[in-house]
Amino acid sequence: MLLPRKIGAKYALIPCAGLLLFLAYFYLWRSGNDVYLTIAGPVEGWLPQMGKDNFWNNVPIHYPPSTIRPSRTGTPVKYPPVQATAFPTQQQGAHPELSKRRQAVRDAFAKCWQSYKKYAWGSDELTPVSGGRRDTFGGWAATLVDSLDTLWIMDLKAEFYKAVAAAESINFTHTELPEVNIFETNIRYLGGFLSAFDLSGDIRLLRKAVEVGEMLYKAFDTPNRMPVTRWDLHAAARGEKQVARDSVVLAEIGSLSMEFTRLSMLTGDSRWFDAVQHIADEMAAQQGSTALPGLWPLKVNGEKADFSSGSIFSLGSMADSAYEYLPKMAALIGGELPMYQEMYEKAMDAAIKHNLFRPLTPTNEDILIAGNIHAGDHGLELEPRDEHLVCFLGGLMALGGKLFGREKDIDAAKRLTDGCIWAYKVFPSGIMPEVLYVAPCKLNDDCKWNERVWKQEVLQRVRKEDPNTTEGEADIDTIIERARLPKGVTSVTDPRYYLRPEAIESVFVLYRVTGREDLLETAWNMFTAIDKATSTTLANSAIRDVTITGKAETIDLMESFWMGETLKYFYLIFSDPGLISLDEFVFNTEAHPFRRRVVSATT
Ligand SMILES: *[C@@H]1O[C@H](CO)[C@@H](O)[C@H](O)[C@H]1NC(C)=O
Ligand SMILES: *[C@@H]1O[C@H](CO)[C@@H](O)[C@H](O)[C@H]1NC(C)=O
Repeated sequence: MLLPRKIGAKYALIPCAGLLLFLAYFYLWRSGNDVYLTIAGPVEGWLPQMGKDNFWNNVPIHYPPSTIRPSRTGTPVKYPPVQATAFPTQQQGAHPELSKRRQAVRDAFAKCWQSYKKYAWGSDELTPVSGGRRDTFGGWAATLVDSLDTLWIMDLKAEFYKAVAAAESINFTHTELPEVNIFETNIRYLGGFLSAFDLSGDIRLLRKAVEVGEMLYKAFDTPNRMPVTRWDLHAAARGEKQVARDSVVLAEIGSLSMEFTRLSMLTGDSRWFDAVQHIADEMAAQQGSTALPGLWPLKVNGEKADFSSGSIFSLGSMADSAYEYLPKMAALIGGELPMYQEMYEKAMDAAIKHNLFRPLTPTNEDILIAGNIHAGDHGLELEPRDEHLVCFLGGLMALGGKLFGREKDIDAAKRLTDGCIWAYKVFPSGIMPEVLYVAPCKLNDDCKWNERVWKQEVLQRVRKEDPNTTEGEADIDTIIERARLPKGVTSVTDPRYYLRPEAIESVFVLYRVTGREDLLETAWNMFTAIDKATSTTLANSAIRDVTITGKAETIDLMESFWMGETLKYFYLIFSDPGLISLDEFVFNTEAHPFRRRVVSATT
């Protein structure tokens, strides 16, 4: 607020009134927007001095935060149970068929782990065809850290402790990479250590988590305390000044909250929570002023802390986990800050109204897909795009629907998850491609299958992708045959499969929420299809084309999420529903379960 330096007598009242308004606003803001969180830690065994000798702790700070939000007791919320009360069989652990399936998943994991140990130990990834190694996430043994909690959950404890011992010597002050991705480092390394600590209680893991946390915290040392999401670690280590970028991927800035908050809860040091809460406050303040109120654009401006200018709105790639972390933060902290539920509800209301649509399918499936919205001169336009990455949304809305008692979210969750199952089923490999387009059912239509409408959509898609095409009506059947398009699909723009988890993630969460028996069968079909198409002599590999049957061409890539996420969800769905119960844990976006603050019945 700017006040003129010299004020004539007759204007003197204006700044006075302004000041009063300002004070009133400030008071309301403070009382209406409770940004404090109970930081009760540290956990037993953690001594604050344990983190003090850290390299990053001793690099000069250029822009210290004006204040660190103090801890204070807010009002926790007792949420309803997330998990179903009845499952097809309560004793899944002892069920012969489910035990067999669980064992098959564990065998696939063990094979990959052995090969990683033999050929790529200490590197970020194994190359699963050639038996080499890759360092793409800092060179800090991403696969090792990402796999820690899976080792624990699959009861491979001897391997777990060997891995913890090896993790102790990872050096988070050194990397060969010119730039570090803060988001990936946060979800894989910090998330991996925190979760492995929450499960095992091994204090060495909390020590490593703090090491990563101190490093990541340095990326927030900017004039406006917005993080540099693609970060030059070397310049920061030399003590150089830094500013947040003007173009930042929404998911990369919006998905740091769970890990940072969990780290504060465990250490009793509220610096991390304070850092991410600053981002959440901006998101909350600007949520209603975007071109699609309720959703934030795919790209935001870190330098100006501008979260509202931009015209593409998606729940999928580049946006996904920014939305995912809203209800998950509420679950993690026991609802102490109502803003996370509020932001979630506003976002989902907008998504249900604008992004979710029903596609035309030959069997008239009652399914939903989450597309993209482009805001332009002609209003809001739907892009009927489907991505493997957006398949997390069904599971998320099942969780949010349960926590906040929103039936419409649970209904959408079922239909979204069924939409991903459909996209797995219609391709000859039994696997959904990375990106595809479908024919949307038009508003007020009965959504009955219409082959002519689908074919017209195929041609339109060709024209959109290549405005210079000479192909016309007469060529539609050739196009469909050439691109191997299943009925209902209008284009497969990226036919690869990267061993991604999002579809099984939603199948798993929906199963835990509903106890729906057919999901066990679905999960098994997905697992066998994926293993068949991707297994190599050493491990499993990303593949080039899911639109063909038989062994697909490999890409020689196995990202750490295959062992950190995909195989974990497959294993858990065939295990006792009490193993990593959603009433005790909440998963970060890399499938690392954090212990929730659960409020007892008496509070
Ligand atoms: C970690 O790397 C830094 C930078 O290369 C180096 O100075 C330091 O000695 C290393 N620490 C350990 C424990 O190896
Ligand atoms: C279409 O043709 C024009 C003129 O030949 C060319 O400049 C343009 O790059 C073409 N566009 C595409 C998408 O191929």
